[in-house]
Amino acid sequence: MNITSSLFQKYNLPVPRYTSYPPATAFNTVFKNVEYLEQIKSSNSAEPKNISIYIHIPFCVQRCHFCGCNTTITQSDDKIRRYIDAVIAEIKMVAQFIDKKRVVTQVSWGGGTPNSINLNYVRQIMQVLHSEFLFADFAEIAMECSPAYLDFKDVDVLHEIGFNRISLGIQDFHSDVLDAINRLPPKCDVDEMLTYMKSKGFRGLNLDLVYGLPLQTPESFRENIQQIIKLQPDRIATFSYAHIPWFNEAQRLMEHHRFPTPAEKLDMLVYAINELSANGYEVIGMDHFARKDDDLAIAKQNNMLQRNFQGYNTRKTTGQVYAFGASGISQLNGFYAQNIKQYDKYAEAIESGTFAVERGYTLSNPEILIRDTINEIMCNGELDFAVMAEKYNCSLSEFLEITQFDILKLSSLIDDKLIEFADNKLHVTPQGMMIVRNVAVAFDPAFMFQEGKYSTTI
Ligand SMILES: C[S@@+](CC[C@H](N)C(=O)[O-])C[C@H]1O[C@@H](n2cnc3c(N)ncnc32)[C@H](O)[C@@H]1O
Ligand code: SF4
Repeated sequence: MNITSSLFQKYNLPVPRYTSYPPATAFNTVFKNVEYLEQIKSSNSAEPKNISIYIHIPFCVQRCHFCGCNTTITQSDDKIRRYIDAVIAEIKMVAQFIDKKRVVTQVSWGGGTPNSINLNYVRQIMQVLHSEFLFADFAEIAMECSPAYLDFKDVDVLHEIGFNRISLGIQDFHSDVLDAINRLPPKCDVDEMLTYMKSKGFRGLNLDLVYGLPLQTPESFRENIQQIIKLQPDRIATFSYAHIPWFNEAQRLMEHHRFPTPAEKLDMLVYAINELSANGYEVIGMDHFARKDDDLAIAKQNNMLQRNFQGYNTRKTTGQVYAFGASGISQLNGFYAQNIKQYDKYAEAIESGTFAVERGYTLSNPEILIRDTINEIMCNGELDFAVMAEKYNCSLSEFLEITQFDILKLSSLIDDKLIEFADNKLHVTPQGMMIVRNVAVAFDPAFMFQEGKYSTTI
């Protein structure tokens, strides 16, 4: 596969990333605890039956100045202990309404830096999950880790607790870039760490890189890509850094450094795509790559890829998502519910014996069809209109009316060979997968271009 900068530039438009449909910007504050309880109860009779769990740990040891995540810098055991107790109480509160026959196929820990807290807290929460829910023997138990706080002993403990997937936030291999973003380097050699994790049976090992960080140059980023190819992780994510200091105050602290220009960022992305695809990695979707023998690449080949707020997943393991902790977003069949973002306010709500939902969204039936349509395009790059209409018990013309699809919206993508379209069947080419949100937007009737509302790809 070879994608050119000019093609990328042409489609570098502000459209939603479709991590969810509707995007989180559409959530409202009418949706609160009462609605959440109703939806948890009804989720037992909805599909999929299996359960995905997300645990958010909103704590880090040091603030990386580029960071866009919901986190607080603290190592106070009192604060962390109080938070863990609240998460455990929330799990128990939700679990009492969940059908005991349903099985957990996925647990994802994110943050913040979940591996920076005392791992006994992690063990405690996992024990509570096991006592409240039934687990499938193939369940994926994953944690996003910062390599700055991870050593071989920690990997042993995580393995013993039941983890079998780990993602490491590398961001950049160069010490000057890490210094510029106020980030500590990995505690252990990354190559040895990956080999060790593989020997313990961890799979789907992922490394995150970010392009667009201060002091990065096209040359230094090429070195990152070559280095990552040598390391051979199962999966790679390359995220674009967006400089939005009015939203993330700490980003101002990097402004005295030189940042790569948009053209240089484009060069980095194009290099990453072309070089990773030439070296055995498959483009999974926006920003994500997987080795051809990885579960995600296999699922992609079989049109069995799914996506949620935790990233790309296989259809086998993706369930309805019940999120626990501050800012966690539950994604059940017909709605989204997001918890209060500040960790102390979240804990206060749970301590008072209620849920801690701050906002959410209930989807209408047409919106559920649109979400599924967009998901098929974003994950598998295939859409058969007739199959989708049949699935939702509607006619082809109703499908076209609900999505307000018009082939004219896709004509330039067809001309540029990024998609193929015939007999109401759509196929996104491997090049097209890199700008797949530009394809998905053609099926989103609510979308209107709004200056500044969504980020561009680069
Ligand atoms: C919660 S962090 C991962 C775990 C751990 N806290 C760490 O930093 O290694 C999730 C990932 O989001 C990405 N990320 C965070 N802030 C970002 C930003 N402003 N722009 C692009 N990617 C970002 C980074 O690649 C990071 O690894
Ligand atoms: S360690 Fe991760 S979550 Fe914490 S500030 Fe750095 S990038 Fe953000």
